[in-house]
Amino acid sequence: MTTTPPPRPYPEMPWARTAAGANTYDAETGSVLPTIYERTTAGALAHQALNLGQGFPDAQGPDWLLEAAAHSITHHEIGPPNQYAPGLGIPALREAVAEHYRRRSGLVLDPETQIMATTGATEAIAATILAWARPGSEVVAFAPFYDSYGACVALAGARLRTVPLRAPDYRPDLKALETALTPNTSMILMNTPHNPTGTVFSREELARILHLAAERDIVVMCDEVYEHLIFDDASHTHSPILTVPGAENVALAVGSAGKSFSVTGWKVGWLTGSAKLVNRVRGVKQFLSFSSGPAFQWAVAQGLQDDQGFFAENVATLKKGRDLLHSGLERAGLRAHSPDAGYFVVADVSGVSEHSAEAFCAELLTHAGVAAIPVSSLISAETPAEDPLRKLVRFAFCKDHSTLEEAVERIVRFTE
Ligand SMILES: Cc1ncc(COP(=O)(O)O)c(C=O)c1O
Repeated sequence: MTTTPPPRPYPEMPWARTAAGANTYDAETGSVLPTIYERTTAGALAHQALNLGQGFPDAQGPDWLLEAAAHSITHHEIGPPNQYAPGLGIPALREAVAEHYRRRSGLVLDPETQIMATTGATEAIAATILAWARPGSEVVAFAPFYDSYGACVALAGARLRTVPLRAPDYRPDLKALETALTPNTSMILMNTPHNPTGTVFSREELARILHLAAERDIVVMCDEVYEHLIFDDASHTHSPILTVPGAENVALAVGSAGKSFSVTGWKVGWLTGSAKLVNRVRGVKQFLSFSSGPAFQWAVAQGLQDDQGFFAENVATLKKGRDLLHSGLERAGLRAHSPDAGYFVVADVSGVSEHSAEAFCAELLTHAGVAAIPVSSLISAETPAEDPLRKLVRFAFCKDHSTLEEAVERIVRFTE
């Protein structure tokens, strides 16, 4: 008889704690799971289910943008389009980002020193966290959070403390934030418009957060990847954090072409902030990817210079999808929140299921053929079992409307 050796615990190793920070460490086998998004998409494929799990749009980006990318690979307007881009990104992209924010919000950024192109927002997030989260320090984030925050904080050897966004309106509790900040806090991570609740932080909320950070001399990373996906009936308007007084010495903002132009696979993102802060993050970023995708960067620059009406059309289509999904989930008996922005509706499933949100999602996948994500994957593992965030499920509506209609019918039949 052979005996299987007991699984080896590796929690002290960087790879294991990184995985654990994003709930992807399998302690039983001592191995790493794919991200919740990949697992959900794989589950959807295996069950031929409708995928309302991973947040990528069914629609391709606009044709003219795809053509710009195809063109730029074989033409040399931008210098060698298939060789290393400069570490900060190609000048055309940095100039387009600067001009874009100047036009939209009056923000003045120096393309030479205040803008750094990154391999998706994900790299900007990783580099920023690794640049500022001292080992042994605490990093404070609002929960739920994008999973890479937890992974990178853990990789940095810091500890994540979370401040929950609560139903019914999921606004940030700034008193709770203040309480969570200690002399050992190294940075604050925030995301507005927020994934998955769609909350758009108000200018006053941003100003207060900046003030709390300045008082403590800590950095704020503001992830704004959904900045172009805000609905016209939103209860608050979006202010880029860098336009709020007090941002200059403490804030860095993260943007993404993937979300803005429905080209999530291109992985073109950017980091903006004061020359001093951006330079410090460069110290990390240039040893992650160094640089990537000059041809895609060039195409994104064309899109930022002139979006040809795409942002408005995209938001109008998304809003219809939001309303379709939100009303459908309510019809199915879920307590669903209609978001001000973004790709997602979160819904409390406790009215229709006595099981956990994970179990609800597993059954929804196998019995109804609809994939969705339990919000428990987007919070810290230390969150108590009875926390209301653990009752929430995230459904993506950046999908074809026919897919959303069919998904709603399936969910209604499932909960009946
Ligand atoms: C809040 C948030 N930040 C960052 C990202 C990643 O952006 P990118 O694909 O540009 O790396 C996502 C993707 O879902 C996200 O939801």
